[in-house]
Amino acid sequence: MRKKVILVTGASGEIGQALITHLAERGNNNILAIDIRPVPEPLRSMCQISIVGDILDTALFERLVSEYAIQSIYHLAALLSTRAEFTPEAAHRINVEGTLNLLHLAIEQSRWQGRSVKFLFPSSVAVYGLPDLETKTKVSKIKENQFTKPSTMYGCNKLYCENLGRYYARHYRQLATDPEPYGVDFRSIRFPGLISAATLPSGGTSDYAPEMLHHAAQGKAYAAFVRPDTRIPFAAMPDAVKAVLQLAAAPRKNLKHLVYNIGSFSLSAAEIKERMLRYYPNAQISFTPDDNRQGIVDSWPADVDDTFARQDWGWQPDYDAARAFDEYLIPTISERYAN
Ligand code: SER
Repeated sequence: MRKKVILVTGASGEIGQALITHLAERGNNNILAIDIRPVPEPLRSMCQISIVGDILDTALFERLVSEYAIQSIYHLAALLSTRAEFTPEAAHRINVEGTLNLLHLAIEQSRWQGRSVKFLFPSSVAVYGLPDLETKTKVSKIKENQFTKPSTMYGCNKLYCENLGRYYARHYRQLATDPEPYGVDFRSIRFPGLISAATLPSGGTSDYAPEMLHHAAQGKAYAAFVRPDTRIPFAAMPDAVKAVLQLAAAPRKNLKHLVYNIGSFSLSAAEIKERMLRYYPNAQISFTPDDNRQGIVDSWPADVDDTFARQDWGWQPDYDAARAFDEYLIPTISERYAN
């Protein structure tokens, strides 16, 4: 008998750490975690097994399926948007070929298990590409089918992988004489910028918000790499995890789409600074825009329309801006740096 496991890739990343903590708290003691970096304690002891491995290593997956029956896949490993611009081809390999390897694993597992294996995939507001600030202001809350013309390698990768997900869910080997009886149960969320009190992102372009917070909480000066009027949507990490688990739990028949926006709050960089000063009156926050990174954030929407997520699976954030800072970010981060 092969052991039944939940596979989490990118387990040492920001969403990975938060998701594993929640899955373990809900009594899941069968997590198989993979990351290119070792999974940190105490997370490692929440997993049945944690592996330091590369999602491009197909031999690794062959070994895994001989030992484990993979029940569902949370494929979180990726190279984020800023880092991807320095090594676009490497980003493509990790973000696209890596995802293809996981989708292939999922379809094989579906065939063997005689059911569709669930595949949760974090996409991003980086799939959008607004041509100019005037359009960004006019559009305001973007819908899933608008302006999907990304200007970054990361955005291109995420958008294409959403389409790959659709292919593996509905059309895999559609001309074969023995077509696939079970597709992959692909479900994806286009995340806004995420802010966690527990971890810092690395290599993203929405990082100015969490960096502002983590610097202010430690009494360190910070120069944001964007203009004060820069506005994109954000969500607190507990809401991001809640969204993934809620979408994973939704009955398939309720899901009319494979890819969903989720919104929580939209703040300008100046408004985030203003909030920081309320809690940390001595915070030293300045703005030194980096034209290139600014260009990327300017191409992302100011906010998202998440009507479909609300309709199909009852999405509702727990944290608006006030609650996110008052009840989650500030108390948790203050405690963290006090220790
Ligand atoms: N927040 C991510 C980044 O900045 C996008 O998903 O790269």
